[in-house]
Amino acid sequence: MAFALITGASGGIGLSMARELAKRKIDLLIVARSTDKLSAAKKEIEEKYKVRVEFLSLDLSQLGSASKVANWVSENSFAVRILINNAGYGIWGSVEKTPWAQLNNMMQLNMVTIAELCHAMLPELKKHSKSYILNTASTAAYQAVPTLATYAATKSFVVLFTRGLRKELRNSNVSVTCLSPGATSTNFIDRAGMEALKERAEKFSMSADQVAKIAITGMFNEKAEVIPGFMNWLSVQLTYLLTKSIIENVAAGLYKTKN
Ligand SMILES: NC(=O)c1ccc[n+]([C@@H]2O[C@H](COP(=O)([O-])OP(=O)(O)OC[C@H]3O[C@@H](n4cnc5c(N)ncnc54)[C@H](OP(=O)(O)O)[C@@H]3O)[C@@H](O)[C@H]2O)c1
Repeated sequence: MAFALITGASGGIGLSMARELAKRKIDLLIVARSTDKLSAAKKEIEEKYKVRVEFLSLDLSQLGSASKVANWVSENSFAVRILINNAGYGIWGSVEKTPWAQLNNMMQLNMVTIAELCHAMLPELKKHSKSYILNTASTAAYQAVPTLATYAATKSFVVLFTRGLRKELRNSNVSVTCLSPGATSTNFIDRAGMEALKERAEKFSMSADQVAKIAITGMFNEKAEVIPGFMNWLSVQLTYLLTKSIIENVAAGLYKTKN
């Protein structure tokens, strides 16, 4: 049986997508840093859904980590027909006041590893009659966002890279989809250091399970882009209708920091 390989599946949207695929009786390869959380996810999903789950604890922000994942797959002869690049995080604050090492780490994880994993896994994905890639971007990808400038730019990269790859593979067996969630109740806000916005964000947040269900359905329906939630979809459409200056002012107001 072929596997789905999901990065960032130790919690949040990635874990919910893992459960969503397990419900469909798809075996899983899950990757993240936290061994204890991956081990707990394996136990829970195997018991509940009766599928096979294998995990790899790895920091995907490190150079060469995509090759380590690809080697793990080939050394174990895992057949992979679904690749979900979901691991990612944000950093809230001005570019000027954020240490470069932190921005660099985020760019490596959010962009380079995603592109490298797609590149490394394509030969494997091409072996199957039908395969899928799902890359997680964000609604932040569709406009510049002051105080989340680098994060938003990494997610713009994901949208454009994914759409380009989709076109390149249009006559192949591999369908490529981009997922752009809006605010979702996960560990994202805490890791991004956005506690000050937590209360407001939670009012508009979708659950990780809701996002995952829409994402996996969209992937299997071979959608180019999936933007879960009507308000999130609408906010993206407005970025095409209003001037960049207006949209950036709105974004600046939403994500104001003390920096
Ligand atoms: N939540 C939102 O509001 C929101 C909105 C738009 C887009 N997104 C995007 O959705 C994706 C999933 O985020 P989430 O909201 O589910 O956040 P989350 O709860 O923080 O989950 C992030 C996942 O990525 C893994 N991860 C983080 N850094 C990693 C690293 N260096 N190497 C390997 N794995 C790493 C985490 O596991 P470990 O900590 O165990 O490594 C975890 O499994 C991200 O790409 C995020 O940018 C989220």
